[in-house]
Amino acid sequence: MKAFVFHGPEQSAWHDVPDPGIQDATDAIVRVDSVSICGTDLHILKGDVPDVRPGTVLGHEAVGEVVEVGSGVRTVRPGDRVLVSCISACGLCRFCREGAYGQCLGGGGWILGHTIDGTQAEYVRVPFADLSVHPLPATVNSHHAVLLADIYPTAYEVGVLNGRVGPGDTVVVVGAGPVGLAAIATAQLFSPGRIIAVDLAPARLEAAKRAGADTVVNAAEDPEQLVADLTDGLGADVVIEAVGVPASFEMCTRMVRPGGRVANVGVHGKSATLHLESLWSKNLTIRTGLVDTYSTPALLRMMAAGRLPTSSLVTHDFPLHRMEEAYDVFSRAADTGALKVVLNSGPVKDRT
Ligand SMILES: NC(=O)c1ccc[n+]([C@@H]2O[C@H](COP(=O)([O-])OP(=O)(O)OC[C@H]3O[C@@H](n4cnc5c(N)ncnc54)[C@H](O)[C@@H]3O)[C@@H](O)[C@H]2O)c1
Ligand SMILES: [Zn+2]
Ligand SMILES: [Zn+2]
Repeated sequence: MKAFVFHGPEQSAWHDVPDPGIQDATDAIVRVDSVSICGTDLHILKGDVPDVRPGTVLGHEAVGEVVEVGSGVRTVRPGDRVLVSCISACGLCRFCREGAYGQCLGGGGWILGHTIDGTQAEYVRVPFADLSVHPLPATVNSHHAVLLADIYPTAYEVGVLNGRVGPGDTVVVVGAGPVGLAAIATAQLFSPGRIIAVDLAPARLEAAKRAGADTVVNAAEDPEQLVADLTDGLGADVVIEAVGVPASFEMCTRMVRPGGRVANVGVHGKSATLHLESLWSKNLTIRTGLVDTYSTPALLRMMAAGRLPTSSLVTHDFPLHRMEEAYDVFSRAADTGALKVVLNSGPVKDRT
């Protein structure tokens, strides 16, 4: 089969690799129908995630059809259309039993496209299939469902829920990429008073407005002053970091009010400074997190009910074999206007 393989920073390519096969009784093999590229994949290409070994197939978001299952798989069968979660879960370890699947001790967690071959391929082996894939209702199409593999649960759990967005809150979302936009969309479930989006790219600020941000501000144009002006000098109740660079994390910690919450979603490859000399007295809560995907079933029900933006987040569709071009378009989002790019193995049906 063909797959997108990491060969070290800035050297990755779409080429032939061996087909995956069942290795453990709990594995499923999924034929990939729709797959996407995450901001985290861009961090991997930059060398920010050093545990990704050269030779690894990238990708941790997909929808496809189960083609083979191991003897221990009980809940899915060949022919089922499933969402492949970015997090795999053994279901048995201490953390899985608390729903903290991202921290799985039994061989799961974020493994796809990280420590084992991932989804940017024609086929993918999914370990612990019973807990790592979600059968999809016919009402949700594949090229939208792929948004549930990572960006929606990430934005919702690590951003909105960890940040404890509440009614009337002023919420700042720094970074209006797909994850930041999904945070803007799901923050609205809690009736915040105002959502302010910060990004460097005008196209993404426009997308933030469409996703429901009340105010948008370019990161180069003093967002800290704007937040201060809009909050009587206090700062925001909740600040969500969805970029993953030191400058933006440090800005988040300056924009939050005393007693407020900072929820870091970004994947960081470099040290950021925690300025305790000014923060120690501010009674802040700072949360970090790898997504657990415990919210995926609820988000899937919301998507099936038409309660989550979908089409507006997918700006580009490509056939699977144009993976390198899709990476190029996604990585130059400021020029191309790309939000989520989705690659499909067949024609895109039922575009709603
Ligand atoms: N914690 C998790 O479990 C988890 C899961 C998925 C993704 N992520 C991370 O979330 C982050 C966002 O993902 P994405 O797919 O939306 O990525 P993305 O690269 O598409 O979006 C990042 C956005 O930040 C903007 N930006 C860059 N520098 C900025 C600055 N200084 N100030 C303000 N905005 C700036 C960019 O213009 C871009 O729009 C990434 O770091 C990704 O790795 C984390
Ligand atoms: Zn991701
Ligand atoms: Zn586990």
